[in-house]
Amino acid sequence: MSQPSAELVALVDQLASEHHLDDEGYRALLANRSPELAELLAEKAVEAREPIYGKKVFVRGLIEISNICKNDCLYCGIRRSNTNVERYRLEPDTIVDCAREGWELGFRTIVLQGGEDAYYADEVLGDVVRRICESCPDTAVTLSMGERNRESYQHLFDAGASRYLLRHETANPEHYARLHPATMSWEHRMQCLRDLREVGFQVGAGFMVGSPFQTMEHLVQELRFVEDFKPDMCGIGPFIPHHDTPFRDEPAGTLDMTLYLLSLIRLIYPNVLLPATTALGTIDPRGREKGMLAGANVVMPNLSPVAVRKQYELYDNKICTGEESAQCKGCLGLRMNLIGYEISVDRGDIRK
Ligand code: 5AD
Ligand code: FES
Repeated sequence: MSQPSAELVALVDQLASEHHLDDEGYRALLANRSPELAELLAEKAVEAREPIYGKKVFVRGLIEISNICKNDCLYCGIRRSNTNVERYRLEPDTIVDCAREGWELGFRTIVLQGGEDAYYADEVLGDVVRRICESCPDTAVTLSMGERNRESYQHLFDAGASRYLLRHETANPEHYARLHPATMSWEHRMQCLRDLREVGFQVGAGFMVGSPFQTMEHLVQELRFVEDFKPDMCGIGPFIPHHDTPFRDEPAGTLDMTLYLLSLIRLIYPNVLLPATTALGTIDPRGREKGMLAGANVVMPNLSPVAVRKQYELYDNKICTGEESAQCKGCLGLRMNLIGYEISVDRGDIRK
């Protein structure tokens, strides 16, 4: 047991009251991580969340609409060059039925996520969005369909989508280049995030913890990015290797570092929507519960048809691939109750 130094405690206090530190401050907190400092940060993070969201956990129903992707991100199990994946695409009717099933279970946020699949061009995807809005009143339709141009984002927004998730993956351009093929660029990714915001979407960004080549300095930049861009949502989860990718032998990100970053991000931007991700639940059986206790306030159970779930394998051993939607909702409700939290199915907009 080593108690954090007075300097570190002062930094935590400063972060909790000013929601800002200079790079030196973030570096010190990251470099001196200890179980005791993590505990202090988590306590402060929960305290910062309390007046805004209390012990409410927002649930988002996630439908994985296609695992067909034109991209070849080195970390991702559904990358184009992985020929061992059985590819699928849900038909528009299936997606709308699935969303409606979620609505009947109480979900008021539906997330459509998929690879960059040309079939889901603006007209087709816009139509799906419109139909979900019609059949699911009072529901926030969220999209997570990758990089598109501004006109496309505008089209989807006009169709009724109100939120868009596009993880930036890393705040460092050189690091980005080591995780992605040369056809993709960090600058374009950032342009997409700015376009989405200008169009009027609530925007989600995010990154993987412990992705290959990630350094402490990169993490300082992640925290700076959150402080500057203030994404409405920030999806962070551990990198987990997938056996059919070039990163198959790389180590996974850790539970402790992910929890630590969740707490830091909550303190930097207390209003942020912060999911305890499926990847966090995958590296630790109680990962999502621990995420809440570190400052998270969102979970995203899977609503995809069970028949295709195993095919949306971004990383190895992904959880919840065999359970029906209702089972996942029940399971999460119970898990949250056991730690004194309560799931809320309302839209769960960011409170600012
Ligand atoms: N481990 C963890 N997260 C991953 N993602 C993709 N591949 C992996 C992996 N191997 C994340 C990316 C992407 C999101 C949909 O899933 O951050 O943006
Ligand atoms: Fe899916 Fe527990 S959340 S089975």
